[in-house]
Amino acid sequence: MKGIVLAGGSGSRLHPITLAVSKQLLPVSDKPMIYYPLSVLMLANITEILLISTREDLPQFRRLLGDGAHLGLRIDYREQPEPRGLAEAFIIGAEHIGDDKVALVLGDNIFHGPAFSDVLAKNADPDGCVLFGYPVKDPERFGVAEIDDEGRIVSIEEKPPHPRSNRAITGLYFYDNEVVDIAKNLRPSTRGELEITDVNRAYLERGQAKLVDLGRGFAWLDTGTPESLLLAGQYVQTLEARQGVRIACVEEVALRMGFIDSEACYRLGAGLMKSDYGRYVMSIAGEQPASTSHRWPAPFSHQ
Ligand code: TTP
Repeated sequence: MKGIVLAGGSGSRLHPITLAVSKQLLPVSDKPMIYYPLSVLMLANITEILLISTREDLPQFRRLLGDGAHLGLRIDYREQPEPRGLAEAFIIGAEHIGDDKVALVLGDNIFHGPAFSDVLAKNADPDGCVLFGYPVKDPERFGVAEIDDEGRIVSIEEKPPHPRSNRAITGLYFYDNEVVDIAKNLRPSTRGELEITDVNRAYLERGQAKLVDLGRGFAWLDTGTPESLLLAGQYVQTLEARQGVRIACVEEVALRMGFIDSEACYRLGAGLMKSDYGRYVMSIAGEQPASTSHRWPAPFSHQ
């Protein structure tokens, strides 16, 4: 599967914070927000990733992530000139997707929970679409899926005033290659956007829409408002301080997925060694191999 991180948008609910910086580059505890969705794609074993953002923000993402080679990835960048909707990602990303299947993750979505990599691996070869549902108390703010007794989706509604279930559709979507054609044939909605809900409905009509329930033991966090951004940061900080492990440490994920070796991981940590984050990366790289030294320059410099 190919991957797309959609990290454009206007972030207007976070104004004035996002007047000069992308929402997806804001800190969530100890790392930029984009690390969280990026690590989700990496956990799904995806290494070819397209990052879509605005013309103004793309240079900062490039500065942060480069071509991705330091993480064993290939990261390409494309512009979304206007926030014309989530489904536009498949039109902008058509060339990147090629003949493959694709996972789309929204750049402001944070997922954390038990056995998440297993859930991702189990669904990483979809025929049709796989959506990930999460119980929320305010489903009217989200795309909502209703499922039958066997877990098949029977309806999908966008921000329904009277939701038929409490299952929000989260910002992680797996599709087969048909998604490109489906997106190209969409018409903008009344709010002028190419709606992901319309893509999902097309799969529903074909009987090819599956919902995977993430369940209440899972955390799917919102970062769209000042309060939710702060709460997400507190959640991450609380778990990291308690457990001593880090959530969405992309260097660690790259190491554990076998995208980089421990020596490369160590060097990445050494490049950040003045921060706890950097020292954590060095520590998970394991015993320092005899051939490495902290004087080594990092292969990719985070300035
Ligand atoms: P939203 O939170 O719906 O929109 P936003 O980020 O512009 O914020 P606000 O509502 O405060 O103005 O977007 C969800 C995610 O999708 C977010 O990561 C931005 C991204 N996005 C795009 O990249 N392009 C788009 O056309 C849209 C609608 C969203």
